Amino acid sequence: MDLSVNVDHIATLREARKENFPDPVYAAIEAELGGADGITVHLRGDRRHIKDRDLEIIRGVIKTQLTLEMAATPEMQEIAMRVKPDDVTLVPESPGEVTTQGGLNLLNIQQDLKSYVSKLVNAGIKVGGFVDPDMEQIKEMARLGVQYIEINTDAYSKLRPEHSRDEIIRIARVAKAARRENLVVHAGHGLNYRNIRPLLHLFEITMYSIGFSIVSRAIFTGMKQATTEMANIIKGVK
Ligand code: PXP
Repeated sequence: MDLSVNVDHIATLREARKENFPDPVYAAIEAELGGADGITVHLRGDRRHIKDRDLEIIRGVIKTQLTLEMAATPEMQEIAMRVKPDDVTLVPESPGEVTTQGGLNLLNIQQDLKSYVSKLVNAGIKVGGFVDPDMEQIKEMARLGVQYIEINTDAYSKLRPEHSRDEIIRIARVAKAARRENLVVHAGHGLNYRNIRPLLHLFEITMYSIGFSIVSRAIFTGMKQATTEMANIIKGVK
């Protein structure tokens, strides 16, 4: 199982002071040195945290997989075609939200995402969609021609461990259904050093996208160490 470290929160701290530090580029390198299998950034339409410059430099310097989270807008498609991340995860984006609220609701989207996706795929980019653990979304995802889904673990992460069983079952069912459709399964949002553990039994999930808990720990331990601790849990190192 792989870990992709989301470095948006380093950029959020930088933007709190409108300074040129701390630098998400440096955080990405430290995360790689700590054992990350990939780096994730979300380039928002409002450029609230990650900037175009961050994306471009990170693309140039990292040695692992780069995932770009983005809304399915023409502007972002153009940027992705130029910067060529390894993966693009399509996410819903609403102005003013603190963080991504929920997965893409493909049953409600009017836009024809199929041609949007195929343009990226034809450029050699793997495309995925961020979805709530909802069976109805899986067939829609497969129909779109994406290669992977990222299951939104936000609802799970808000539950106390003793109340999380049903949500884990929901995630497991969706992960299995996605595999039947030949979709690779990722998961993320709200995961931390404790709540990740019960999910590690779900072998369908091959990549975890984690940001806030790692960056929060990094304040005390440094980015490299915080990444190593999470990577060791995910990879089952004692
Ligand atoms: N996956 C997606 C689609 C996200 O939007 C985010 C938050 O940027 C994450 C994963 C990581 O969530 P967290 O920062 O809570 O670990």
